[in-house]
Amino acid sequence: MIRVGIVGYGTIGRLHAQAWQEVPGSKLAVVADCDAASLEKAQNDWNLPAVASVDEMLEKYDVDLIDICVPTPLHESVMRRAIEGDKHVFCEKPLARSLEEGQRMVELSSGYQQKVGIGHVVRFTPAYQKMRQSIKDGEVGEPGVIRTFRGGSQFPMGYQNWFADFDQSGGVILDLLIHDLDYCRWLFGDVERVYAQSTRGRAEEQLEHAMIVLRFKNGVIGHVEGSWTNFPGQFYTRVEMAGTNGLISFDSRSTEPIRTMTAAGVRLQVGPTAVNPYALELLDMVEAIKEDREPLITPHDAYETLNVALAALESVRTGQVVKL
Ligand SMILES: NC(=O)c1ccc[n+]([C@@H]2O[C@H](COP(=O)([O-])OP(=O)(O)OC[C@H]3O[C@@H](n4cnc5c(N)ncnc54)[C@H](O)[C@@H]3O)[C@@H](O)[C@H]2O)c1
Repeated sequence: MIRVGIVGYGTIGRLHAQAWQEVPGSKLAVVADCDAASLEKAQNDWNLPAVASVDEMLEKYDVDLIDICVPTPLHESVMRRAIEGDKHVFCEKPLARSLEEGQRMVELSSGYQQKVGIGHVVRFTPAYQKMRQSIKDGEVGEPGVIRTFRGGSQFPMGYQNWFADFDQSGGVILDLLIHDLDYCRWLFGDVERVYAQSTRGRAEEQLEHAMIVLRFKNGVIGHVEGSWTNFPGQFYTRVEMAGTNGLISFDSRSTEPIRTMTAAGVRLQVGPTAVNPYALELLDMVEAIKEDREPLITPHDAYETLNVALAALESVRTGQVVKL
């Protein structure tokens, strides 16, 4: 039984706590949070011990795995403490706020005997997995262009409004669009160059809308777009991928979200939305421990995605194309 300690019981920590209940072979044992109201909520939700810091958790409780759900700039320090404590580590995306922090995290985890996995959850989202399989099976031929969208809900309200502080969150590109940057890398491999535009600096942080154009080394062109703009409505995601033989598209708002259009006709696939992708990514972590293998997303892999996201931020800043 893997005994789990969650550090950070905010939006994602609460989702992880629920998801751990669905992961066989694991048990949520303790929660740490620096905020008294979050600690009280954790105790009420799960009737578990709750402590004020990762240090107190390591000192007082016997855990096998630390699940890092604190704001992004704190990922490195909590991971360092977990590794010093010889624990397995699961850390939320993005790996870090800067390339330097990310590099240090890769170094910390390389050669480390316990497992370290990073939460790029889109790779565990069934519809995105199915689209990838269709693309890999050549259903729409050679990939040419991909267009993605993510957004549509309210601005995220985090601890001390940290999402509104660009130095902490990296804005909509680093915090939100990194999901699609990672998915596109998973589909098409290395990125050659990046150009991005954002409303940052021209509108309030809460109204950021961004567009990123990518060219992959294999020649595929990507357009990754997303928004923290507070237009009314539900959060949704969309993907269109055009290949030499047809188009595959996905819209999370549809009841038959995946649509493939080729000369052979139109094929619709119902998304198995009942599956919780957060539980699937945590299950992969537990299986990686049992099977003594790497989790699907290693710190090194997440560092490569971080590099693309930070290149997009650099492009926004300079107005120039950034070569990787
Ligand atoms: N994978 C996803 O879908 C997804 C979704 C949301 C957030 N995230 C990521 O998860 C991380 C957290 O985001 P969030 O939305 O949950 O933020 P949040 O502000 O809602 O929650 C963060 C929690 O950490 C606590 N905290 C802050 N400093 C701490 C410290 N030093 N020690 C212990 N606890 C501390 C806060 O009190 C708060 O409860 C970010 O890196 C974010 O990018 C991922």
